[in-house]
Parts: sequence; C-alpha cells; structure tokens
Amino acid sequence: MEILQNDLLLRAARGERVERTPVWMMRQAGRILAEYRAVREKAGSFIQLATNPELAAEVTIQPVDILGVDAAIIFSDILVVPEAMGLPYIMEEKVGPIFPNVIKSMADVDKLIVANPEEELKYVLDAIKIVKKELNGRVPLIGFAGAPFTLLCYMIEGRGSKTFSKAKKALYTEPELSHALLQKITDTTIAYLKAQIAAGANLVQIFDSWAGILSPEQYRIYSLPYISQICDAITEVPVTVFAKGAFFAREEMGKLNCEVIGLDWNMDIAESRQLIGDTKTLQGNLDPCVLYGSFDEIKKQTRSMLQQFGGHRHIANLGHGVYPDTNPDNVKCFIDTVKEG
Ligand code: CP3
Repeated sequence: MEILQNDLLLRAARGERVERTPVWMMRQAGRILAEYRAVREKAGSFIQLATNPELAAEVTIQPVDILGVDAAIIFSDILVVPEAMGLPYIMEEKVGPIFPNVIKSMADVDKLIVANPEEELKYVLDAIKIVKKELNGRVPLIGFAGAPFTLLCYMIEGRGSKTFSKAKKALYTEPELSHALLQKITDTTIAYLKAQIAAGANLVQIFDSWAGILSPEQYRIYSLPYISQICDAITEVPVTVFAKGAFFAREEMGKLNCEVIGLDWNMDIAESRQLIGDTKTLQGNLDPCVLYGSFDEIKKQTRSMLQQFGGHRHIANLGHGVYPDTNPDNVKCFIDTVKEG
C-alpha cells in the first residue's frame, strides 16, 4: 500500500472530512511557468516533450515544487488517444492542435484501432512511473483523458473551433458513424485510464471540454452514456468528471458512478450542490480571470468561493484551465489563500 504524506485530495474526493480544502489547477503543468518553457525549449516541441518520459515527469512535478499545489497532474494531452488509435496530430505554434487526416466515413472509423496502452501509450505510462518515484509520496498524481465526445470533436473537425459545426453536423447526419466512433474511443479510454492507474495514478479526471456546445438532448445521447461507461469501468480510484459548459446536465451528472464533479465558473455553487446532491465532491470553480486582479481581489474572490462551497466535499480549482499569460505570483496567491482557509 502506498503511503502519501498529503492525501487531502483523495480524502476530499471520497467525501471524508479534511483539515483544509485541497487545491490544484487545471493546466497547471505547462503554460504559466518559465521553468516549463525552459524544459520545452530543451525538448524542441510540445510533442517531443510529451513523448519524453523524463522531461514530461520533470514538468509534471514543477507545479508541486514551485506553486505548492496538493496534487500533480501528468503532463500529456487528451489528443494522445486519437493518435494511439491511428489518427496522429501536430501542434501548430499559435494555432493549436491539427489533425492532418480526419474521420469522414465509416471506413475511416473501421480503420482506427482500439489502442493497447502498454504499446501505443507506453511513454505516458513510463512518465507516470517516473513521477511516482520522484514525488515519493509527497502528493497524489492525477491521470486524465478526454471525454469521448470532446475527442470526436477534434477527430472530425480536425482542429479547434468555436462551434465545431462539422463535428456537430455528423451527430445529426451520421448518428451511426458517430456512435461507432464514440464507442471505439470509449474502449480505448477505459483501457488507457486503467493502465494509468496501474502505473500509479491516484485519481483520474475526464475532460469534456466541449460539452457546452451540445443541446441537452444531444448531450444525453452522445456524451453522457459514454462517460457513464467509463465511470462504471473505473473502480480502482476516484473519478472526476469535468464537463465545461454542461450546466444543463448537472442533475444527471449527480447520478454518474463517480466521486467528483467539476464545475466551471458559470455554474452557481449553491444551485450546483442542490442539483448534484450531497453524494459527490465538487471541484472548482474560480474564474481564471480573477488571477489577473490584485492580490487583494484574488484573496477576496477565493475566500468567497471557499465560503460558498462550505468547506466539505470540495476540491478548490479554477473553473477551467489557467490562462497562459497569468502571473505565477498571482497563482501562488490563489493557492496560498486556499491553504490559509
Ligand atoms: O493540466 C495540465 O497541466 C496537464 C497537461 C495538459 C495539457 N493538455 C498540456 C498541453 C492537459 C490536462 C491537457 C488537456 C487538454 N488538451 C484539453 C482539455 C482541458 C481543457 O483545457 O479544456 C484540451 C481541449 C486539449 C487540446 C489542446 N492541447 C489544445 C486546444 C491545445 C492548444 C492550446 C493550449 O491549450 O495551449 C493544446 C496544447 C497543449 N496541451 C499545451 C500544453 C502545455 C501547449 C503546447 C505548448 O507548450 O506549445
């Protein structure tokens, strides 16, 4: 049995009483730290960094050392899953991820494989093992994957988009293809998350970053059932589901077989607690833009958030990933304010 010096995150996730609210930040690895940019430079590119287990481990641990967060999240990307299934991506400077080939037909879906994580995603598992060794029980490690619907968005659209209208079009015009693709992603994701857990991940988070572009009905058909399959399959560690923009699905999320639901900053805290119920831990949900303010403003907003969550069944976080141009000192102010209680 692994002994963790700081297991606040895991205890809060399971609904146990904690001395203080644990805190970490989505996208804490990369983006904001000069120390990250130095390692990225050394690696050459984002993909070279993400596929180099030693360097990926190094940037995973940086926020624990520099910011004092209560958890590490493995440095990787949600798009490694499509790549492992046979659809490679490139990371274009100032544009973001691009898939040179996209899914257009059922034949394209048939060509994808259900990946074996021990082969196609071994570099992530190796990075997790190095992180665990180097963390030496200081804090828990979070593993993650994209929700099947969010991955479908990139695999059909081929790149980021405000509307993902090509991907949404497929839901309406090619439901059979859409479901076949979602199921194949789900099967890979379950195997991948189980492999991350076997390698040492203490909790796993599912990012449904584009949930908010769907109607409630489409969300019920094309996203929730696949997230639900993943939650049912992962029994080894706590699971967090973060569906950005899915305010309309909070009641159903309360019925998922998971321990934690992530809230974005548009979601009212009291209303979310009422809709989701008392059997889940809630994670979130400070507006990342608060971190552009003065220390006084950051402290005020952070304390107000803590008070609204009520100090129980809460993991403090932002309502989405930290923005790249945020001053690390302001981030530190947020983290320290949570720790002071
Ligand atoms: O949380 C962490 O710090 C761990 C690392 C992590 C990355 N991506 C590293 C990354 C995580 C958890 C992700 C998840 C991810 N990736 C999501 C879901 C979370 C969310 O923000 O909604 C999504 C939608 C992606 C897809 C993706 N990857 C985009 C749109 C981009 C470009 C814009 C951006 O976010 O920077 C990426 C690139 C990416 N992923 C970078 C990093 C550090 C920047 C690449 C670089 O260093 O140039």
